[in-house]
Amino acid sequence: MLLEINGISKQYNKAAWALQDINLQLKPGIIGLLGPNGAGKSSLMRILATITKPTTGTVFWNGMNIGKKPDELRRVLGYLPQDFGVYPHLKPIEFLEYAASLKGVSSRQTRTRMLELLELLNLQDTLKRPIGSFSGGMRQRIGIAQALLNDPKVLIVDEPTVGLDPEERLRFRSILTDLSGERIIIFSTHIVSDIEATADQIAIMSKGRLLVKSDPMVLLRSVQGKVWSVVISEHELQDARAKWLISGTIRREDGLQLRIVSVHQPTSQAMEVSPNLEDAYLYVRHNGGEQ
Ligand SMILES: Nc1ncnc2c1ncn2[C@@H]1O[C@H](COP(=O)(O)OP(=O)(O)O)[C@@H](O)[C@H]1O
Ligand SMILES: [Mg+2]
Repeated sequence: MLLEINGISKQYNKAAWALQDINLQLKPGIIGLLGPNGAGKSSLMRILATITKPTTGTVFWNGMNIGKKPDELRRVLGYLPQDFGVYPHLKPIEFLEYAASLKGVSSRQTRTRMLELLELLNLQDTLKRPIGSFSGGMRQRIGIAQALLNDPKVLIVDEPTVGLDPEERLRFRSILTDLSGERIIIFSTHIVSDIEATADQIAIMSKGRLLVKSDPMVLLRSVQGKVWSVVISEHELQDARAKWLISGTIRREDGLQLRIVSVHQPTSQAMEVSPNLEDAYLYVRHNGGEQ
């Protein structure tokens, strides 16, 4: 099972490139697509979901060019778009029936599958309620349910945790982990903590480019020895921001404790601390992927 992204670029209008020469090889597991707003995550996902065509480049699904044979991928694809809209008056089963009919999933198998999915996503007690009355987390779970109707080999979820509270976020992540296995799951977010515990691979994007694709441990190692803790007083913060790459601040009784990402020890009092993925993400974005 292999999804190959070869030299994908996308231009919506002449002024700017939304994606530039993206190359990725995806195998079963969870890949976290991490990047700030405007990085190109949704554009790449829409291309993979065969909704949009790239301006140049090719996507191969098990060696087949999906520009020529989109159905080969569509049959095994589940997609939860970023702007996933539900029909507020429909109840879960009605909505899933509608989604199944759009996907061409046969209705005889679907009823059982739907009930299984609703149970898997812990929505079995909501069957009589219209989706409009659901919380954000419940809606996202219905979104995942529709994406799973055809038991996809490739599952694409675009910023699924936006608008969820911390508990719902946690639950959503564990659902994705449960679903991984013999599937390629592509999960986009701009929040590091969404993927640090779940992703097998992390791809960092910025301004239409892929900066890094790596194992989370390798990414962490790349900032080993480059993360420092420094305590400053509150009025020094502005200067500090101008001088250093700051990945976190904590208020303490004796001042502000900063986490600083720097190749060199920033001050003689600075203590080296062990890196986290937030530090690595900041470092990679700042260095444009050069390590
Ligand atoms: N349909 C579109 N038409 C024109 N520009 C677009 C369209 N979709 C996205 N863009 C532009 O492409 C760039 C990447 O956007 P997007 O793929 O949505 O990034 P992300 O999902 O990482 O926030 C942005 O500059 C955005 O304004
Ligand atoms: Mg997006």
